[in-house]
Amino acid sequence: MSTLWHGRFEGGPADELLAFTVSLPFDQRLASDDLAGSRAHVRGLARAGILSVDEAERVLEALDRVEHELHDGTFAFVPSDEDIHTAVERRVTELAGAAGAKLHTGRSRNDQVATDLRLFARRELLGVARRVLALQDVLLARADEAGDVYLPGYTHLQRAQPVLLAHHLLAHGWALGRDLDRLLATRTRLDVSPLGAGALAGSSLALDPEGVAHDLGFPTAFANSLDAVSDRDFVAEALFDLALLGVHLSRLGEEVVLWSTEEFGFLRLDDAYATGSSMLPQKKNPDIAELARGKSGRLIGNLTGVLATLKGLPLAYNRDLQEDKEPFFDSLDQANRALVALAGLIATSTFVVEAMQAAADSPTVAATDLAEHLVAAGMPFRDAHAVVGGLVRTALEQGTPLADLVVAHPELGSAARELLGPGVAVTRRTTPGGGGPVPFAAQRARFVAQLEIDRARVAEG
Ligand code: ARG
Repeated sequence: MSTLWHGRFEGGPADELLAFTVSLPFDQRLASDDLAGSRAHVRGLARAGILSVDEAERVLEALDRVEHELHDGTFAFVPSDEDIHTAVERRVTELAGAAGAKLHTGRSRNDQVATDLRLFARRELLGVARRVLALQDVLLARADEAGDVYLPGYTHLQRAQPVLLAHHLLAHGWALGRDLDRLLATRTRLDVSPLGAGALAGSSLALDPEGVAHDLGFPTAFANSLDAVSDRDFVAEALFDLALLGVHLSRLGEEVVLWSTEEFGFLRLDDAYATGSSMLPQKKNPDIAELARGKSGRLIGNLTGVLATLKGLPLAYNRDLQEDKEPFFDSLDQANRALVALAGLIATSTFVVEAMQAAADSPTVAATDLAEHLVAAGMPFRDAHAVVGGLVRTALEQGTPLADLVVAHPELGSAARELLGPGVAVTRRTTPGGGGPVPFAAQRARFVAQLEIDRARVAEG
């Protein structure tokens, strides 16, 4: 068997070596980026006069042909194709003969794979950002639909203070906005071309890394060839962005799981976004939400795995770096699927308004408002807190309605009792960024403005 590197070797590679080291099964996914990188490299070699115009044309034609073969499934891989880079070069040489054998001039798979992966990441991260926007759109649409509907906000998963459902939904929307911003920032930082770094130290040939960088749409080329071939910061950063996005989707998923229980009863899943039980006929399960939660573990694992791979590596390229791809591909796939599935789930779920509002109207949820009523009349907050806490304790111990105790209390009375009326407490969340209808209007405007800025950033690419 003839490999790319057979010149120095007397014997061929062991089957076990290839079985353990091949990356073709997964790095085929880089094929279109590999072709783009090769085309730019060939054009650069032609500009430098290293390839004649005629040779460059023949190689570019061969690359077009390879693209067709890969696309229509007629590309015949052979056992010595270790990875997609090897396979493409082998085929180009078969098709273009001596000119084809010049394709790899001044280039190494080390700068090639780093280039391919950056091109790939640049496109894929934008795709994730688009799906994040789509989920934000769904949350905003559901928030608008929710209008003045309110529910208890929770701390420690205990009812705390009422908030608008719209406010709760947009809380998730803001977290996603930060995810989107991180994805775009990672894209900006990775936008540096490694091509021309060669194996590690550049070349004796008159390569033009800046020209090739611009050809590929990178604003600039590397400054240090050792760094260019060994830097996988962009993979680690992207994996972090995806892991934190996954954590946000997990938290959203957890709330869907809770809200769809009979115990909460705040949300009913659409049949198309729920699953049944093979044994229990009554079950309607929130599997999408559970997997959004579950898969975040895997996204975190992919990040920590790659960091562990990177931590011990001396400069420059080491084969360990091949381990960057599968976790990266996996995190992209899982995050994309989770975003789409959750968007569908949120878009089609029914919010059970009566259950949400009944829970929020439970008198104790207005306890803080009672205390603030006393504060408005001049009582120090700590004293007011103690007064209302005492009333809540008495109500619970004696089974007396809190409203009756409020009316009977000399400093509260019937004016304070009004605060316990259905839907009153939420309207008293009036401070900027708060959970009531007054500040929500401003929050919504701010959210929409940011969403439109982000939509334009994503459309710009
Ligand atoms: N398949 C390899 C990777 O993904 C390509 C680079 C191989 N380079 C080398 N010198 N063995 O990292």
